[in-house]
Amino acid sequence: MAYRVPFVDAPEHYRRYQQELEHALTDTLSRGQMVMRQELRDFEAHLAAFVGTSDAVGLSSGYHALHLSMLAAGLGPGDEVITVAHTFVATISAIVHCGATPVLVEVLDDYNMDPDAFEAAITPRTKAVVPVHLNGRVCRMDRIMATAARHNLIVIEDAAQALGATFDGKGAGSFGLTGCFSFYPFKILGCFGDGGALTTSDPRVARAARLLRYNGEDRETGEYHYHGYTALLDNVQAAVLDVKLRHLRDWIAHRRGIADEYRARLEGVGDLRLPHFDDARHHDIYQNYVIRTGRRNELREHLRANGVETLVHWPKPVWEHRALGFGTLDLPRTAAICREVISLPMSAETTREHVEITADVIRSFFDQVHHA
Ligand SMILES: Cc1ncc(COP(=O)(O)O)c(C=O)c1O
Repeated sequence: MAYRVPFVDAPEHYRRYQQELEHALTDTLSRGQMVMRQELRDFEAHLAAFVGTSDAVGLSSGYHALHLSMLAAGLGPGDEVITVAHTFVATISAIVHCGATPVLVEVLDDYNMDPDAFEAAITPRTKAVVPVHLNGRVCRMDRIMATAARHNLIVIEDAAQALGATFDGKGAGSFGLTGCFSFYPFKILGCFGDGGALTTSDPRVARAARLLRYNGEDRETGEYHYHGYTALLDNVQAAVLDVKLRHLRDWIAHRRGIADEYRARLEGVGDLRLPHFDDARHHDIYQNYVIRTGRRNELREHLRANGVETLVHWPKPVWEHRALGFGTLDLPRTAAICREVISLPMSAETTREHVEITADVIRSFFDQVHHA
């Protein structure tokens, strides 16, 4: 079905930047610059400067940024790593694949780690914490960093959804030992397939990640230092990302404007809870614009029937995926979020007209409910 309001509009995105992107692609490909060339080094330098770290290491996905961060930090069997249950499963899988044990805790109403729940979950075996900056909003990093410092824990930030977001003026991905980013096509900075990076200001971690991503090999000496992985960000993808990075500040400003427009049109409608949490220390980038309602499934169907495409991140708590082996967790806030959230259309191509249509459809739903 062709939606009146698409969730994202990848063809339109490509059309807008086609000339610049094709120039970068043709230039890179015609010179045969395929693996670990200047384009990758340039993008890494620009990304590190943008985030506010000394280094960035281009990787093949956000998952690999998490996994290689954890390996570089020395996490392994016997270690407990605290993160949230309300995240994309890759955060948790990276912990499992290191041989460490994930300990899943509750989130606050802004969908990010509850600092008290984090502190309460610390045991003598806890080695690290992975705060996830969900939907483009940085966690309460003042509290999380202070608790981690008190207990001597490593902090690995899952910043896959938060490139450009800040807390107290400091960028997502610059607080912890590493920040982990995803360039999956529908992220705020997306490439043409899978891609990711870690950011760090620790040169030993940057070096370990550079070796691990290339099967453990030091390219200068040919020496293998690890049993590593094939997990490099492709050079052509780096060229594409370097072009797009120049537009990122404009896209963030656009998304924040769209979020304000949603707020102006939807505040006070039905039982809706909107993602505006007034704390001036947070500068959110709205990777997702997530609303909550007790009538989620009906509202979502009404939006679909009226041509508005939405997504749900995520409809089922991670522990209910039985094959993952978590047993049953008692995290009522996470469970309620999974029942109640809808992500509305949000991208650099979302227009004010899209918001107007979407808001009108939502209002018509609650008018019907009200008059029923
Ligand atoms: C919060 C979060 N963590 C990790 C990832 C993993 O990134 P990737 O899909 O690039 O492996 C994603 C992206 O989907 C994400 O949203």
